[in-house]
Amino acid sequence: MKILVKDVNKRYIQGEKEIMALQNINLDIRENCFSVIVGPSGCGKSTLLRILAALDYPTSGDVYYDETNICQISDVRRSALRRQKIGMVYQDFGLLPTFTAMENICTPALMDGKKPDMAYIMKICQILGIEHRLHHLPHEMSGGEQQRTAVARALVNKPAIVLADEPTGNLDKTSAQELIALLMQMKQEFHQTLLMVTHDMTIADQADVKICMDNGMLCHS
Ligand SMILES: Nc1ncnc2c1ncn2[C@@H]1O[C@H](COP(=O)(O)OP(=O)(O)OP(=O)(O)O)[C@@H](O)[C@H]1O
Ligand SMILES: [Mg+2]
Repeated sequence: MKILVKDVNKRYIQGEKEIMALQNINLDIRENCFSVIVGPSGCGKSTLLRILAALDYPTSGDVYYDETNICQISDVRRSALRRQKIGMVYQDFGLLPTFTAMENICTPALMDGKKPDMAYIMKICQILGIEHRLHHLPHEMSGGEQQRTAVARALVNKPAIVLADEPTGNLDKTSAQELIALLMQMKQEFHQTLLMVTHDMTIADQADVKICMDNGMLCHS
């Protein structure tokens, strides 16, 4: 699935203050392409990712998945699209605290009325190195283990689009590289469009496309 971002602006109002989190963003993200978003803290990377994931609306502008304008469809359709087409890794993981790792991983499949593909889940958990932590609650896992659980959850439905907000932020160099290798392998296998926020230039250099942001705007690297 390709993603087209057209003239997107996002303004946050906080009391008297206005924050222009995104200004005039235009992007054309090809299908089956690995793109990274890089830029300093506070420049709008997570804001953009949340809008692309249909978790938030732009103040103005549009986002298309293939021919569908996801800003113009009903909330019900947006939820269905999120469940069926998008795998999201949140910057703060967003794991359900009373669910085990395995229950967290299976949630997107169950919410979509599907039986989780256990052989596939075990395969990705082994690659992610969390197969021995699947019965732990999030607070019984390290930050890196929680992050890898969030990655497994994002992949469980074999989504057309994978959006990951600093998915290697809590990992050592070797685990980070293994995770990237997994995401790239899944991208090839399921023809996914992969978009990742990262501060890690070793990872950014492996992407097909590098999107640089500063102060809510796209800039040239
Ligand atoms: N819900 C909100 N209400 C008001 N301002 C917000 C909100 N969310 C984000 N912002 C502001 O919008 C700007 C962009 O935030 P965003 O989280 O997108 O940055 P980021 O590039 O992801 O940063 P980081 O690398 O630290 O994660 C920041 O100035 C932030 O303070
Ligand atoms: Mg962020």
